[in-house]
Amino acid sequence: MNILVIGRGGREHSLVKKIEESPRVDTVYAAPGNAGMTEAELVSISETDVEELIHFAKTNQVAWTVVGPEVALMNGIVNQFREAGLDIFGPTKEAARIEGSKAFAKDIMKKYDIPTAKYESFTSSNDAKAYVKDQGAPIVIKADGLAAGKGVTVAMSVEEAIEAIDVMMEQSQFGDAGKEVVIEEYLEGEEFSLMAFVHGYKVYPLIPSQDHKRIFDGDTGPNTGGMGAYAPVPHLSQEAIEAAVRGILEPTAAALVEEKRSFSGILYAGCIQTQEGPKVIEFNARFGDPETQVVLPLLENDFIQVMEDVQAGIDPQLNWKDGFCAGVVVSSAGYPGDYQKGILLPNVKGNRTVIPIYAGVRNEDNQLVSDGGRVFLLSAQGDTLEETIETIYNTLQEAQVPSTFFYRRDIARKAIRTSVSGYKYTK
Ligand code: AMP
Ligand code: GLY
Repeated sequence: MNILVIGRGGREHSLVKKIEESPRVDTVYAAPGNAGMTEAELVSISETDVEELIHFAKTNQVAWTVVGPEVALMNGIVNQFREAGLDIFGPTKEAARIEGSKAFAKDIMKKYDIPTAKYESFTSSNDAKAYVKDQGAPIVIKADGLAAGKGVTVAMSVEEAIEAIDVMMEQSQFGDAGKEVVIEEYLEGEEFSLMAFVHGYKVYPLIPSQDHKRIFDGDTGPNTGGMGAYAPVPHLSQEAIEAAVRGILEPTAAALVEEKRSFSGILYAGCIQTQEGPKVIEFNARFGDPETQVVLPLLENDFIQVMEDVQAGIDPQLNWKDGFCAGVVVSSAGYPGDYQKGILLPNVKGNRTVIPIYAGVRNEDNQLVSDGGRVFLLSAQGDTLEETIETIYNTLQEAQVPSTFFYRRDIARKAIRTSVSGYKYTK
């Protein structure tokens, strides 16, 4: 069968790789994809040009379409494909609202008792500022709509919080996404990402992972789309993960059914492990980036079988490889601010388990050059997290990555420092 993957980033490259492994797959198409996706046939249709995508899927006997980016989901790509009689993996725009509006997600959590930070939403900047002055710092300010992971300020002082409100509500830096803001309690604890295949009430969790959202080492500097990840998470107890599945993912899937927004696809909970247990910081209606790049390589099942089972409400019996997968993102220097494009990629020597996954790249004279903020992620697998990370950093060092690129030097370091020796994840 032929499969169409929608999107152009590292997450989608990872999906392409995983899908291409299936013996049942003839051709994987990627729209628009990127030049690093050598396993796929690239189709130059943008993620949001749904009519063209439907036309392509029909004329090329595409059996399944898999959607990466949230914008396409929010625009209703799943609704339109289904109306056209095509199979597509992902939530409808009604269900994807769990990601599209933070205020909506918060209301669902309040109504269904799903643990999350205390919050208020505001459409008036004066009311928002008064609330911040009343609550004090630290406090978290979030633009209501989509802002590519950058619409969140964790303010350590009241002044910083007020400035964030000005930027979002008065200077409209995030456009309409910042017309409404959610202000929430600052949660302290370890962050983790938990994704699950969901279909209506049915929830099949993937292994937990951890992203690194800030640009600089030690989790400092501005938020990015994610600078590195690893899976599973060795310093998270089995009870904490169980608690997140039973207390967060399952009730959220059920809530969406009750609200007549039944979810099908990947539901992603960004959580913080607090003293009182796991609490939600955000929901996504899709695979996480870069979490997908470190979770999918450990999945043993055939991806097509999983999609078919999930869609039919059958337990896909997920199986996971032992050991760890980690990935370090190599970005353009200057990201998430301004950066240069068109720079020749360093020559990274991959092998069977050390694999570059491409994102912001294009071809120039038959060579890959940079074309975005996050350029590629170097992933590796190993028995321990320590050796996995060491392999990645050694490979990057050998490649002599020039200073026109940047990568964090401390991905997974906290996990390695704090994990119990001889740790084994029970799947
Ligand atoms: P989000 O886009 O909602 O995932 O937020 C981006 C980042 O801000 C998260 O990964 C956290 O590091 C941080 N963050 C968001 N909400 C909170 C909160 N309530 N308490 C502490 N940190 C938060
Ligand atoms: N890694 C966070 C996200 O995909 O939104």
